[in-house]
Parts: sequence; structure tokens; C-alpha cells
Amino acid sequence: MKVAVIGAGVSGLASIKTCLDEGLNPTCFERSEDIGGLWRYTPNVENGKCSIYQSVVTNTSKEMMCFSDFPMPENFPNFLHNTRMLAYFRAYADKFDLLKYINFKTTVISVKKCPNFSSSGQWEVITEKNGKRETTIFDAIMVCSGHHADPYYPLDCFPSIKTFTGDYFHSRQFKNPHGYDGKRVLLVGMGNSAADIAVELSRVASQVFLSTRRGSWVISRVYDNGYPWDICYDTRVQTWIRNTLPPSVLCWVTERKMNTWFDHANFGLQPCDRTQFKEPLINDELASRITSGFVVVKTNAVEFSGSTVKFADGSIEENIDVVIFATGYAYSFPFLDESVINMETSKANMYKNIIPPNLEKPTLGIIGLIQPLGPIMPTAELQARWLTRIFKGLCRYPSLNDVMNDIAKKKEIFIKRFGTKRENRLQVDFVEYLDELASDIGVKPVIWRLFLSDPVLAAALLWGPCTPAHFRLTGPGKWNEARKQILTTKNRVIKATKSRVVNNQEDKSLSLRLLLGAFFIFAMIWALIV
Ligand SMILES: Cc1cc2nc3c(=O)[nH]c(=O)nc-3n(C[C@H](O)[C@H](O)[C@H](O)COP(=O)(O)OP(=O)(O)OC[C@H]3O[C@@H](n4cnc5c(N)ncnc54)[C@H](O)[C@@H]3O)c2cc1C
Ligand SMILES: *[C@@H]1O[C@H](CO)[C@@H](O)[C@H](O)[C@H]1NC(C)=O
Ligand SMILES: *[C@@H]1O[C@H](CO)[C@@H](O)[C@H](O)[C@H]1NC(C)=O
Repeated sequence: MKVAVIGAGVSGLASIKTCLDEGLNPTCFERSEDIGGLWRYTPNVENGKCSIYQSVVTNTSKEMMCFSDFPMPENFPNFLHNTRMLAYFRAYADKFDLLKYINFKTTVISVKKCPNFSSSGQWEVITEKNGKRETTIFDAIMVCSGHHADPYYPLDCFPSIKTFTGDYFHSRQFKNPHGYDGKRVLLVGMGNSAADIAVELSRVASQVFLSTRRGSWVISRVYDNGYPWDICYDTRVQTWIRNTLPPSVLCWVTERKMNTWFDHANFGLQPCDRTQFKEPLINDELASRITSGFVVVKTNAVEFSGSTVKFADGSIEENIDVVIFATGYAYSFPFLDESVINMETSKANMYKNIIPPNLEKPTLGIIGLIQPLGPIMPTAELQARWLTRIFKGLCRYPSLNDVMNDIAKKKEIFIKRFGTKRENRLQVDFVEYLDELASDIGVKPVIWRLFLSDPVLAAALLWGPCTPAHFRLTGPGKWNEARKQILTTKNRVIKATKSRVVNNQEDKSLSLRLLLGAFFIFAMIWALIV
């Protein structure tokens, strides 16, 4: 089966590897001259290519973020600078010999159904290299072209920006803080990029303003007891608790938890609509820069004139030199026909967030178009494992009716959890989503059964972080190291920071607690049975 993989970023690499594992025949097309996609920093901005600033450090931790059968080097820290991330992807491509499947400097121009699609499920792919076009027929398509290339730049919401005399541009143009010494800078937006850039510029600029309409919860990479936030947050037990609590109770609990670090209202950051569950932003320094006065939080900017900016609360800031719009990204698939994905109506309403629902044959899927509150890499990898097995007919693809019902059901749950106002349909619950794909593939560990045969492992699966190796314990693609990998996760997390050994007491008490927990559950199950 010939599979076209479009893009050689994280999603593309995982897709090529998965095709090889499944005995499919992949051909990857990558527009640029190298792998890594977004994680390959370039000093200049290229059109149509994702562009990051020099200082980008991951906001998810390495144990959560690795590919399921390729652990990260032990000497890596918990959160990685983009150069380290790229080094890891290069090592992955080397280990599984992926480069020979990639056609670089080759852009996919169009992907169309073959005339005989309803029987063959085949696609006609037109690519362009050095100005020369080529048409090839493929049996299946994995779209891995990313969603951080088209800036969302809503200048029409700020018509008066034309009268602004300073510089203004989208955050993708921002590379590093050189040249901002002594400037007065306004950032518009309140995502991870806006906060990162505000913090970075606040060290050289004379003043940084951060303008937000909605506000946001902020959490630190350094979370409970100093563990990475995702190690604590993305566990099965925590997920289960969050998804069973009534939304209002959940909001209350979450709010209290988030406000233990600092009171978000007192820092001008608290989200307007408190019942809305907004994706928190991850930043360790923002609160510190605010309390030291280097960053000043403002409401939304309503009017620009000359070098003056007026805000919704009537306040005015003068002598602004630069405005940076950190307003995020839109996504689009310019090479896909409207009949496959209609961006207007579908708003990414796809089956399992992967397959467009109106295909007669499920031979095209989109990998990595998703926003879990957790890492993308293992998510994309599991999506690829799921999709390749759909291609091969080893996972059941339901009837159109069931597909539509599933999408409608997911939408309902989404609205219940995140509210109707949230446009962002890409958001999913990390653990729940992975478990759902895994159970379709047959690689989801059966935890209750494990409590009888391997209670230590079962406890780690329930209370421990949901690391990628959880999906290599059983079923197709099983990896013999997975159990060991899972049980030693916390050791590696600690090793990454404990470069000066103090004492080992803590580690022992941790595994003792795990063991006790497992024993307790075991005893309860035993009591129920007898
Ligand atoms: C600043 C920033 C920080 C982030 N930090 C994290 C993080 O810490 N953890 C995390 O999990 N996620 C993070 N993300 C999310 C990020 O999207 C994923 O980590 C990941 O990079 C997505 O990979 P991808 O392969 O899907 O897309 P990309 O990395 O965007 O790769 C897409 C590739 O497809 C190619 N391509 C596109 N169109 C075509 C075409 N028509 N023909 C041929 N090739 C094409 C592009 O050249 C590119 O190489 C971050 C995102 C941003 C913007
Ligand atoms: C379907 O049509 C394409 C050309 O459009 C052709 O190359 C291919 O062999 C056909 N497939 C089948 C299964 O008939
Ligand atoms: C990490 O940052 C990127 C870029 O802003 C964002 O898209 C992603 O959702 C963030 N991840 C988490 C888990 O918050």
C-alpha cells in the first residue's frame, strides 16, 4: 500500500515510522530542505513556514513528550530548548532510518480523489520540485503539514492601527530581543507566545505592556513539589476526577488550585468568564516580572493614534515604539479540495479528530491537528498508529451514520466542559483521547486485570503520569522495555535536576507510597471478591 506523508515535522516523522512498522510503503514530501518542522529554528522568517523565536523552550516535559519506543537521552533536562528537541528528532530519524523516505524541497500542490475513488480509495497527488510538477497515485494520505504557518493577524479588529507611527507586526516575526533596548513595547494577546515574548523583552525594554481581553490562568513548569506540571496533571486518576466532577465544582477547585501560587485577580490575569475553562498558559516568570513592574497587564487595546494607545478601561499609554500581535495562528490545507475538507463548515469536525467524515473510503487522515493539555508528539504518534490500522482495515471504521453520531456526541461533551463560546474545537482531553485511540488499536492496558497480576505496574498506570510507554505494553507494536520504562519515569525526572546528590530518602518513601496504594486497592478488590 503506497502512502503519501505530507510534511516532515514531528507528525510526519512519526507517520513514516509507523507506516514502516505496519508494512506500508511511505513516501514523504517536505517543502523545506530539512526535517523538524516548527522545531527547526531559522534566523529569518519564510513564507508559509512555521517560525519560532530563538528562546523557545518546550512547555511539556521530556518524559511525557518522547516517542513511545524511543526514550530521550538521560542527560537531557526536563524541559528542552528547541535545539535539543531538534537533536532528538534527528536521532529518531537516524535510529529508524527515516530520511531515505523523504523528498526534500518538494511541495504538495494538490491532493485529489481519483475518478475511481469510491472503489479504489486512491488519491492523485501533485507535487512540485524546482518548478517541475509531478503527478503520483497513492493508496492513502497522511496530512502532517502542521497548523502554525498561517498567522492569525486580525488587523481589521484594530482599524486605527494604520495611524500608529511605530512598528507593528505578528509575533512570528519576533526572533530575539536584540534591538529592543530602552523601547516601550505592547504585546497584544495572551497565549504562550505573548507571555514568553513579554517576559523576554522585559529584560531589555524600558517597559512592556501585555494587553488581554480575556485573561488567562497561568501555571508554572515547576509544579507540585517541583515536578514538571504535566507529570502531575496528566494522570489517569486526575483525569477521571476532572471528568466526573460537575463543571461548576471543577471550576471552583481549579481556581483555588491555580490561585495558590498567586491570586490571578490581583495580577490582572484572571479570565473574565470564570466558568469558562480556558487553556492555561505555561510560564514560570510572568508573575515575577509583573510584581517587579517590568510587565504591566492591560485590557484590550481599542484605539491607536500616533504613538499613543487607548485601552478599553479608558487608560492611555503614550510613546509606544512597537506593537507585537501575538494573536496566534489559523489553520488551512490549501492543497486539499473543498469536497474533502470544507474549512467553513467543518471547523475541524473530524472523526476522532483525524478523518474528514464525508469520505467514501477512510484513506486520508490529518495527524497533529489537535490541542491536548499535554504533549503533541505522543498524541501524533498514536494517531498515526490508529490511522495506519484503519488504512489496513485492522481497526473498524464505522458507517457514515455512526461517524456523524460520534462527532455530535463529542461536540456535546466539549460544550459541556469548555462552554459554547470556545471556538477552539481542536482541544481534547489528553489522557482520555489517547486511551480512546489506544482501545481501538488494542494497545490500551487493562488496568483492573493488572491489579491482580502486576499491582505495582497497575498503580503506576493509574496514579503515575500517562507517559507514551503506556501504549507499548500490550497489543500490536508491543515494546519489551515499556514496563521498565514506566516504573523508572520518576527516577529520570528527578535525575534531570538532582545534579548534586543530597540524600535518597525521598525516592524510597515515594515507591513505598506507591506500593502501599497498590496494596490498599488490591485488598479492596480482594474484599469485594471474597
Ligand atoms: C512556539 C511554540 C511552542 C510549542 N511548544 C510545544 C511543546 O512544548 N510541546 C508540544 O507538545 N507542542 C508544542 N507546540 C505545538 C507544535 O505544534 C508541535 O509540537 C509540533 O511541532 C507539531 O508538529 P507537526 O509535524 O504537526 O507540524 P510542523 O512542525 O509545523 O511541521 C509541518 C511540516 O510540514 C511541511 N509542509 C507544510 N505544508 C506542506 C506542503 N504543502 N508540502 C510539503 N510540506 C509541507 C512544513 O514545511 C513542515 O516541515 C508548540 C508550538 C509553538 C508554535
Ligand atoms: C484508479 O484510477 C487511477 C487513475 O486515475 C489508476 O491509476 C488506478 O489503477 C485505478 N485503480 C483501480 C483499482 O482501478
Ligand atoms: C505549548 O505552547 C504552544 C505554543 O504556544 C501551544 O500551542 C500549546 O498548546 C502549548 N502546550 C500546552 C500543553 O499548553
